[in-house]
Amino acid sequence: MTEQPEILFTRQEIQKTVARIAREIERDYRDASPLLIGILQGSFVFLADLIRQLEIPVEVDFVRLSSYGSGMESSGAVKEIHGLEKPIGGRDVLIVEDIVDTGITLKRFINILRRRHPASVRLCALIDKTARREADVVLDYTGFQVEDEFVVGYGIDCNERYRNLPDICHIKVIPE
Ligand code: IMP
Ligand code: MG
Repeated sequence: MTEQPEILFTRQEIQKTVARIAREIERDYRDASPLLIGILQGSFVFLADLIRQLEIPVEVDFVRLSSYGSGMESSGAVKEIHGLEKPIGGRDVLIVEDIVDTGITLKRFINILRRRHPASVRLCALIDKTARREADVVLDYTGFQVEDEFVVGYGIDCNERYRNLPDICHIKVIPE
């Protein structure tokens, strides 16, 4: 059972933050054309807004990492990568993630990517939960910091619900 979601970041705050991240990315990739790799499913709304703010040439690909059940905790292992159609050898790769929590998923994904010899790998996450970090991943671009609390909306789910909320919200999950 869940309580009514409470707004943490409004759609206006999100738009400002996405624009700020886009300016940071443009500054860093002035003479490059990065390949943005969105991690499905949570990043799809963020990535869609982000690329429309970017005024540099970009390409987009998506991956799905099958490590999560439908629950709220990371199972800790990336079992498989689905997608990643584009070759990444020699490319400037920018990973786009919804939330970095323990960082375990991202760490393993980066290790897999590096074996394919990209020119560079940077990380962009809309939400950073630093307090829960276990793996040593460094975020190059971050939207919002949140404490150890569960958030939904703007593409982010709880058991597949709430992705359609236009604001980023906090929910309390009550065990049944
Ligand atoms: P971790 O960094 O490997 O622990 O896992 C991060 C992933 O767990 C995120 O990409 C989300 O898919 C999911 N996740 C972590 N925290 C939340 C949350 O507050 N709401 C919804 N999903 C979350
Ligand atoms: Mg995710």
